Amino acid sequence: KPVQVKELRRMREEGEKIACLTCYDASFALLEDRAGVDLVLVGDSLGMVIHGQDTTTAVTTEDITYHCRAVRAGLKRAFMVADMAFLSFATRDRALDAAQQLMQEGGAQMVKLEGGRIQADIVEYLSARGVPVCAHLGLQPQLIHKMGAFRVQGREQDAAEEMIRDVEILEQAGADLLLLECVPSELAKVITERANVPVIGIGAGPHVNGQILVLHDILHVSPSVTVGHTPRFVRNFMDGASSIENAVERYVAAAKDCSYPAPEHCFK
Ligand code: KIV
Repeated sequence: KPVQVKELRRMREEGEKIACLTCYDASFALLEDRAGVDLVLVGDSLGMVIHGQDTTTAVTTEDITYHCRAVRAGLKRAFMVADMAFLSFATRDRALDAAQQLMQEGGAQMVKLEGGRIQADIVEYLSARGVPVCAHLGLQPQLIHKMGAFRVQGREQDAAEEMIRDVEILEQAGADLLLLECVPSELAKVITERANVPVIGIGAGPHVNGQILVLHDILHVSPSVTVGHTPRFVRNFMDGASSIENAVERYVAAAKDCSYPAPEHCFK
């Protein structure tokens, strides 16, 4: 049965972990679907792992839509989320146009956008018009040129409190899903306990409702791991796997039974 928002909510309520993975083409969509991935994200990480760019900022709505169409063709069961490209949601009208393209042309079932309370107005605008939204908090890779480096977010007390408040505001605005990137495990735990919608984590510890990783990272083929810059939260699931499909199955099993993430993949 295809996964819907309702099913993600049920999994959260019943304590069943949600296994999520990025995906960019039809072959991997079919493989991830068969391996039991519940949610695939056509992330703007495609700029880095597919197009070989250093950041995600050059990725456009057209790029993401193109990959969405391919992924949609391979999926039967998994829920499909599409990233909103950098600045494509800077105004209400632009956000609505981008969401329309991702959903109508790309076949996405939800859009994900980076940002805290500053995006509440956009989340509310989209949500009120029938667009399911995932709010991406913590590390926001689209802010790289402002931040200068990728860093763990919410370590200081005031930053942690601000993130907790951001979550409340975004939920009130209509966010259906939250994604926390590079956040201390204890903060992610507090946010997950307080949230009324599923919380997915990447580098956010074991207490969230589900895990997400970049496909090329778990297969140990992304440019960053190849040159030896493996983020702390990444585990190489090809290690000991009999095939690529088996590596994805091992990731799903580990995300479901909480053997991933281990303490060495988490931030304090
Ligand atoms: O673009 C992406 O792949 C993402 C994940 C890192 C969550 O946003």
